Amino acid sequence: MEIAQRAPVGTRRLVLLVPAGLALLAGLDAALLLLGLPAPVQADRLPQVHGLLMVLGFVGTLIALERAVALGRGAAFSAPALLGAGGLLLLSPLPVTVGQGVQLAGTLAYGALYVAIWRRQQAAPVAVQALGAVLAVGGSALWLVGVDVPTLAPFLVGFLVLTIAGERLELLRVGFPPAHAEPVVVTASLALACAVPVALLWPAVGYPALGLGLLALVIALVRYDVARRMVRAGGLPRFSALAMLTGYAWLAVAGSIWLVVGPVASGPGYDAVLHAVFLGFVLSMVMAHAPVILPAVLRRPLPYRPAMLVPLAALHVTLALRILVGDAHGSTAAVQVGGVGNILAVLGFLGLAVHGTLRTKARA
Ligand code: HEM
Repeated sequence: MEIAQRAPVGTRRLVLLVPAGLALLAGLDAALLLLGLPAPVQADRLPQVHGLLMVLGFVGTLIALERAVALGRGAAFSAPALLGAGGLLLLSPLPVTVGQGVQLAGTLAYGALYVAIWRRQQAAPVAVQALGAVLAVGGSALWLVGVDVPTLAPFLVGFLVLTIAGERLELLRVGFPPAHAEPVVVTASLALACAVPVALLWPAVGYPALGLGLLALVIALVRYDVARRMVRAGGLPRFSALAMLTGYAWLAVAGSIWLVVGPVASGPGYDAVLHAVFLGFVLSMVMAHAPVILPAVLRRPLPYRPAMLVPLAALHVTLALRILVGDAHGSTAAVQVGGVGNILAVLGFLGLAVHGTLRTKARA
């Protein structure tokens, strides 16, 4: 059906999306440098800030914006504003500590959002997401005081995995799961959250525990998630289900690496575990939810198009090349080709999302 009237754009929301988009583009540029390849922008600082730019500047800003919109209070928008500004400051010539400080302020504001949400709705999904927010605060505080990214990486993983697990838990109810489904997912989430500080203090015990926590969470979510049924439907439900199920598979890969290999702070295992989580799980989930969440944020439809399957498939195929061929067998060429493929897949989806959103505007 054609849209008869121009859908109103949330201007403030659009403004808050811009820093997230810039963080993504700068993070992708930095990714090329980390792969040892030429990049459009060559700044010394970029590789150093790639991780936090992606996790807090891009994904963190998006999630905080979505939560702020759901809460509907002006003050709530300080969380995405600070996270977005923190990402931009990391890219500025100012000392890195300025951006780190503003990112910490952003995660604190994001935590405060959950205090407000909890007052409205005291439910398990909110508690799981709030645990994720606590880990975001922990991760950004550790980075500010000088802890290196490989050491604090479990906090970043815990933040995004628990945030998404909480979202999925909220949607479990749609499928009328058995009464024990919610306690099972909550217990696995708690186990994962507890393993994060343990990994910081006693890595030899903590990392295998993190692996077990991730695997337990994957099993619980796959068991009860409606995605397994949605995959048999068509259109958007099938696209989202495919993105979610492949995302869970990558989370299982990350959990298995941590369980078997233990602490990994550099080299192929480090690259594999982080990007199995962040690209395989998190970005796949972002793609799965984009056609629902972007319209809620921007107040403008983003109709599903079968073409969206192309970047989704490309993301997973090139990630398999990077991790299962490149990292697993020590092939730098496969890591580089796969990595560039990951970047093109992300850009391809971004292009489709921007085009789809603008097209509804033009038609309006
Ligand atoms: C889109 C394609 C991407 C490519 C090609 C890429 C590439 C890389 C490379 C080559 C490294 C260095 C790995 C090592 O030291 O062994 C790295 C580190 C990292 N990446 Fe990515 N990345 C991408 C996307 C992402 C995304 C979307 C996130 C998070 C949402 C992310 C988070 C991280 C983190 C946290 C680190 C560790 C940084 C550090 O140790 O300072 N990456 N990435």
